[in-house]
Amino acid sequence: MNPQQVIRDPDRNLALELVRVTESAALAAARQMGRGDKNGADQAAVNAMRYMFNTVEMDGVVIIGEGEKDEAPMLYNGEQLGTGVPPKVDIAVDPIDGTRLTALGLPGAIAVVALAERGTMYNPKHLVYANKIAVGPRAKGAIDINAPVKDNLTKVAKALGKDVNDLTVVILDRDRHANLIRQVRECGARIKLIMDGDVAGALVTAFPNTGEDILMGIGGSPEAVITAAALKCFGGEIQCKLWARDIPERRMATDLGVDLERVLTIDDLVSGENVFFAATGITDGQLVDGVRYEEDRVYTSSIVMRSLSGTIRRIESEHHLDRLGLLTQMYE
Ligand code: FBP
Repeated sequence: MNPQQVIRDPDRNLALELVRVTESAALAAARQMGRGDKNGADQAAVNAMRYMFNTVEMDGVVIIGEGEKDEAPMLYNGEQLGTGVPPKVDIAVDPIDGTRLTALGLPGAIAVVALAERGTMYNPKHLVYANKIAVGPRAKGAIDINAPVKDNLTKVAKALGKDVNDLTVVILDRDRHANLIRQVRECGARIKLIMDGDVAGALVTAFPNTGEDILMGIGGSPEAVITAAALKCFGGEIQCKLWARDIPERRMATDLGVDLERVLTIDDLVSGENVFFAATGITDGQLVDGVRYEEDRVYTSSIVMRSLSGTIRRIESEHHLDRLGLLTQMYE
């Protein structure tokens, strides 16, 4: 893409507008925290996110939406969002990364969106899982998804100036990771198992002083694209390979012409150079605080980023509870 086009298209810092989108989703989802109703929380976040998206001056199309796993009626893949005027952008949404965490009131749930120039986001189609490896900027260039676990940990440790024994590897707590967990333990590295939320799980590796160094393992493929957008802003790295759960999914991959051995780099996942990312905490996490209610105010904590400038902003917002109630009625 030529640099002039990159600057022009889209030329505003849309991340600052996107934060209103993630704040709305987080505020709606947080109302449902701990109620044990995953679908209710997700629906509230989707409604709010979609309503706010349609106030943003852009011509957006959803590439990574709610659609694939649950055939959602809103924020589905291919849906048009925004006011319909330029810039033309691809959109990736996850109104709640961590619906179960929200429903149980556990830490680590975020509302998240990413934008990039039209035609630059990868669509994993019906392959909903991917095997991932992700690191922050200091370990960029040290990972190779095809290399043994030991080689990756050794190289990342070297890049970070640490001993392998002092590395912390973030892994989703799933049975499918038994072998990976065993290999990491054999190398002597530490492990942080997370119940859900591997977007935040990858992003914390890019933040200084979180103590977490690398994310490994199989999670959602849509989340891999969102993570790539965020790590482009940070200057980190993700590699992944789409993963089939069973033989029918393998056959489907063949029928779709999808090569499960292909390594998808960060640029394959999001090839754009002008990428925007916003996330707002629903429940407390290392990245951002969750939604907090006080008397007549509600507080949200967000992070917004743009790859072109490399700017990372933290936004703490104070919302008026009464006025928020009026707004909420509009998208319920
Ligand atoms: P949702 O909250 O959108 O359901 O995703 C949570 C999550 O943990 C993702 O962060 C992760 O990529 C994916 O689910 C893993 O899928 P599964 O729970 O099926 O292993």
